[in-house]
Amino acid sequence: MIVAANLKTNLTRKQTKEYIETLDDFVKTNHINQESFVFPATSSLDSYDTDVTIGAQNAYPVQNGAFTGEIGVEHLDEFGLKTILIGHSERRHILGETQDVILQKFNYFKELGYTIVYCVGEPLEKREAGVAEMMDYINAQYRGIDTSYERLIIAYEPVWAIGTGLTPTNEDIIAIHRELKKKSPAPLLYGGSVKVNNAKEIMALQNVDGVLVGSAALKVEDFCQMVTFAQ
Ligand code: G3H
Repeated sequence: MIVAANLKTNLTRKQTKEYIETLDDFVKTNHINQESFVFPATSSLDSYDTDVTIGAQNAYPVQNGAFTGEIGVEHLDEFGLKTILIGHSERRHILGETQDVILQKFNYFKELGYTIVYCVGEPLEKREAGVAEMMDYINAQYRGIDTSYERLIIAYEPVWAIGTGLTPTNEDIIAIHRELKKKSPAPLLYGGSVKVNNAKEIMALQNVDGVLVGSAALKVEDFCQMVTFAQ
C-alpha cells in the first residue's frame, strides 16, 4: 500500500516543513512500514531528513536552461529528490500539457531512474459517454508510456472526482482498476475525493494499491490517520 499526499499549491515552506516533521514523527513512533509520499509545492522542496518519500509535483525535462518559471533536474538533485508526479489532470487540463509533453517528461525522468507517479483519468463527459469512450480516452493517456517501467506507479484519478467530494462507486473503482491492471503491473493508486471517512474502504478494494490524496491530506493529522489505514 502506498499513501501519497499531493499538497498542490498549498502550504508555505514553513508549514510544509512542520507537516513533514509531524508525519515523519508519526510514522516512526507508530512503526509504520507503509510507503508514504508527499508532493510539496515547488518552493517548499528541500532536503528533508525523513523516511517519507518526498517528490516533485512537476519539473521540466532538462538539466537546466532557459525555461522561465520551470525547474530542472539540477534543482531536484540539490535536494536528493528522485520522485516525480507526471500527467496530473490539473497539469493536463489547466496548464494545457499534451500527451506529447507528458510523454517527453516521462521518458526523460525514466531515463534518470526516477520513481514516477503517473496520473490518468477521465472527465465527466467521457464517463457519461459510456465505457468504450471512457476507456478510449484513458488509453490515449497511456500512449507511449513504458508500462513495464519498474519504478512506475499509476494513479487513476477521475477528473470529476478531484476536489468535488464525489467518488465513483466501489464497484466502478474495482471495474476500472481491473482494466488498468491489464495494462500495467505497476502499483495502482486511486485518487479523487479520498477522505478519512472513505480511505480505508477504498484501500481495501481489489486492485487498489493505495491512494493519492489532495485536499484531505492538507491536515497532517488526517493524512497520518490515512497512513495507518494502509497497515
Ligand atoms: O492528486 C490528488 C488528486 O488530484 C486528488 O485531489 O483529494 O482533493 O480530490 P482531491
